[in-house]
Amino acid sequence: MANMQVDFCGVRIKNPVVASSAEPTLNAHNMKKCIDTGAGGVIAKTMTDSPAMRELTTRSKWRFLNERHEVCRGKVPRAFSLYGRSGLALETPEEFVPQIKETLKYAAEHDATVIGSIASTEISGWVELGKQIEDAGVPLIECNFGCPHPHMMPGVRTGMNVGQDFDYACEITQAVCEAVSVPVMIKVTPQVTDLVLFTERLKSIGASAVTLTNRFIGFVPDIETGKPLIYGQAGVGGPWIKPLTLRWINDVRKAFKDEMFIAGTNGAYDWRDVVQFIMSGAHIVEMCSAVMVYGYKWLGKQVRGLEKFMNEKGYENLEQMRGIASDAAMAYADMPPERAKVDPETCTNCGRCLHACFYQAMQPGDEATWVKEENCIGCGGCYSVCPVPGAIEISIRQ
Ligand SMILES: Cc1cc2nc3c(=O)[nH]c(=O)nc-3n(C[C@H](O)[C@H](O)[C@H](O)COP(=O)(O)O)c2cc1C
Repeated sequence: MANMQVDFCGVRIKNPVVASSAEPTLNAHNMKKCIDTGAGGVIAKTMTDSPAMRELTTRSKWRFLNERHEVCRGKVPRAFSLYGRSGLALETPEEFVPQIKETLKYAAEHDATVIGSIASTEISGWVELGKQIEDAGVPLIECNFGCPHPHMMPGVRTGMNVGQDFDYACEITQAVCEAVSVPVMIKVTPQVTDLVLFTERLKSIGASAVTLTNRFIGFVPDIETGKPLIYGQAGVGGPWIKPLTLRWINDVRKAFKDEMFIAGTNGAYDWRDVVQFIMSGAHIVEMCSAVMVYGYKWLGKQVRGLEKFMNEKGYENLEQMRGIASDAAMAYADMPPERAKVDPETCTNCGRCLHACFYQAMQPGDEATWVKEENCIGCGGCYSVCPVPGAIEISIRQ
């Protein structure tokens, strides 16, 4: 049986599937529901001393969008977007701490981990929140430098407004790390240019992990009304965004190998995605949007899916999977030369590959397409559009 246990910043988590900080972890009631599914842990909704960020949640609204970015009614497709406006925890820190304590007690009975999440608008506030949540008993604190909504709230200096200001973010990180004794993880915004550099700075001042990444900001007009959906810009993400997140996980993994803990979030839909996050270098994977579509049980389903996959593939533990795809990634210059090959027996001469070839390699024939070898650079466009399995293969040029 595969061992799914993970050592994350020195904290044992029974499996890497974690409910990320969001509405499914809004309060003790919700967090217990996540724990009941068998998830490795929960990250509590971000506790804040900002009245504006709390008040925003009282006016939360979101829509699941289809591939055309129209509002879904009923059926939500696999490649959905979650377009939403929401804030941080509804309660004041004094009211929220008891929720965390109650969840910690329940989690201990269910071998689950509760991670705290904080966000303030002042350095002193970040420190105070860090101490409060550590006193509540959490073994790990996530600082939310990625929340997209403050971008739409002039004067509210938190979330991504912090994550985009590396100097200020480092000041906060250092202050929190010095004030608490539990490990601190930093949840970053993807809306910056260099998260490797940022991670290096965060690590050097005491951060134990990075959470890659919070969501983007988007804008979607409704062409019938000429007005934006849900009144304007909103946080946007969904399963389709996964490659953008994995790119950063790949970069950070390459730069730090096992010297930095990585939590992955933003685009993990199911256990297959969890595997891809881990193979890119993530230690744990935080999930939100899919849980908001299918409910809490979705988390447990992914834990079981991951376990089945590991057993079938013979992975004994997560270390055997972690970062293997990142470690195998090649520079453009190191890629082996390839070329397309057509099997004339299988080719139906449908001609689709001809439209997908821009190097004049695929040539029309009477019975089947053929490849002008000197022109073929092995791009693979033909292979992707060919509807007949086995008719076109891409192989390394001998
Ligand atoms: C409605 C909503 C509320 C969220 N609230 C928080 C929050 O309070 N703190 C936080 O760090 N991230 C928050 N997030 C971001 C999620 O934790 C998660 O990182 C993000 O949705 C990407 O993961 P996903 O692709 O699984 O949804 C929120 C996301 C959504 C959609």
